[in-house]
Amino acid sequence: MSGTDVNRGTFDEVMVPVFSPAGFVPDRGRGSRVWDTEGRDHVDFAGGIAVKALGHGHPELLKVLHEQGDKLWHIGNGYTNAPVLRLARRLTDLTFADRAFFANSGAEANEAALKLARRYAIDRHGEKKIDILSFTQSFHGRTFFTVSVGGQPKYAEGFGPQPQGIRHLPYNDLPRALEAIGPNTCAVIVEPVQGEGGVIPADPAFLKGLRDACTEHDALLIFDEVQTGVGRTGTFYAYMQYGVTPDILTSAKALGNGFPIGVMLTTNDIAAHFKVGVHGTTHGGNPLGASIADKVVS
Ligand SMILES: Cc1ncc(COP(=O)(O)O)c(C=O)c1O
Repeated sequence: MSGTDVNRGTFDEVMVPVFSPAGFVPDRGRGSRVWDTEGRDHVDFAGGIAVKALGHGHPELLKVLHEQGDKLWHIGNGYTNAPVLRLARRLTDLTFADRAFFANSGAEANEAALKLARRYAIDRHGEKKIDILSFTQSFHGRTFFTVSVGGQPKYAEGFGPQPQGIRHLPYNDLPRALEAIGPNTCAVIVEPVQGEGGVIPADPAFLKGLRDACTEHDALLIFDEVQTGVGRTGTFYAYMQYGVTPDILTSAKALGNGFPIGVMLTTNDIAAHFKVGVHGTTHGGNPLGASIADKVVS
């Protein structure tokens, strides 16, 4: 390998064993090709799990990486920076949203979305309006809140008491969802196409019905577009082809084409329920990631 000091066996000695990676070690990539440390080439059908929409080593992304890398990588959220403002402007111009909160992953974007929904509901309607409705087989990330909201219990069990007020119902079952959404519903979170759950598209009537019920009960409709976003279903975001607009949308994965970045998008009225200091992140919105995502989206 580039160096003979480490190999696939080293993984089993030094890494926390939550993954079981392939028997070879990828070293270099161009387009859809990857070469391993033994010099063998592979066609990359995995694409970094819905991430490498523009392939490996895209020349324009490399250019931005080098240019911005030479200027400023990170400055912290005590300051803002031009790349993140440009990216926020671009994403809000392209979507229903007025405001963006940047994070480092899909889970972190969803964590922000769920916290914001709870804050919005409690501010407006009091402590009882905390119910979050989610769907079986859904996946929203690996933080404790997002595994609890996700519809795959195996990811949430064995860690002690979970956050409360979360219900899971069958995906695409509108009558069951309509029965469940009521005055104490704070949010409904749904993937327009379930990814991990088996690449299952939502029925248009399902999303439309959720939208109407959320509007009726002042519950927020959150679209998790971490997997479907940034052109992966044919429109910039999948909601655009459903003609159903969420209150909050989360995006990550292909947004950075491999550079870790996530975003929560929402409206002015909803964003106003997060005040200075209520939520945050160290690396979210750093100029290096933002400049790359801005190029991906452009
Ligand atoms: C729909 C969906 N939401 C959230 C996530 C979590 O994203 P991340 O792994 O970047 O935290 C994933 C990851 O597979 C996903 O598919």
